[in-house]
Amino acid sequence: MSRRQLVVGNWKMHGSRPANALLLDGVLQARPFHCDVAVCVPFPFLSETAVTLSGSDVRWGAQDCSAHDQGAYTGEVSAAMLHEFGCRYVIVGHSERRALHGEADALVADKAKAALARGLTPIVCVGETLAQREAGETEAVVKRQLAAVVQTVAHCAGEMVVAYEPVWAIGTGLTATPEQAQAVHALLRGQLRAAVADRADDMKILYGGSVKPDNAATLFAQPDIDGGLIGGAALKAADFVAICRATRQP
Ligand code: 13P
Repeated sequence: MSRRQLVVGNWKMHGSRPANALLLDGVLQARPFHCDVAVCVPFPFLSETAVTLSGSDVRWGAQDCSAHDQGAYTGEVSAAMLHEFGCRYVIVGHSERRALHGEADALVADKAKAALARGLTPIVCVGETLAQREAGETEAVVKRQLAAVVQTVAHCAGEMVVAYEPVWAIGTGLTATPEQAQAVHALLRGQLRAAVADRADDMKILYGGSVKPDNAATLFAQPDIDGGLIGGAALKAADFVAICRATRQP
């Protein structure tokens, strides 16, 4: 498999300036990695993160962006602003934003489009709840979530990163089995292939949901899992580094 894997730390609403300095120093000290590595940090920490990481091959990004370019949108941050701070990535459609902020598929799609228009790589999250899985709706849910974005960004779909994050596995300690995750990743890859043909083979589909140092390698060994989107375990340098080291050799 030729795709280089990618591990992204999603810090969520965690961190402080001293804690971040320690964490990023731990990550920088552990280089080189044989995968791509990035951290998606809270907005106020972007400036300092950019200073700390610039000149290294560790990239950074944000956890959300506005669908709008500019205007009277109190509290929102545009993709253009993120670009100014050197962001490479922005997470869109995380299940916490879908659930807690009522973000629907159409808005997530518009955010992905706004990110792409500013040269950022959106990390588009999809995933089913436990009730949806138990009702046999996993495939329908993730396909609907991805289809909304693919239709909106059209020919740019090949530039995205997709993250499959089953909601029931996030922060719960319940990880999808490698087989469960691979099955969903394979169908997402098939959907991407229908949209962007062979470019789908170069696209990264990350798995997220209770990835830890002890389960990362078996997940990353699956043919359609191209790395991870890491929550809790991204907050401790030793754990995050161990997960990066569990990726496949390119
Ligand atoms: P955890 O790794 O804490 O389960 O979080 C996963 C996640 O939501 C990453 O975006």
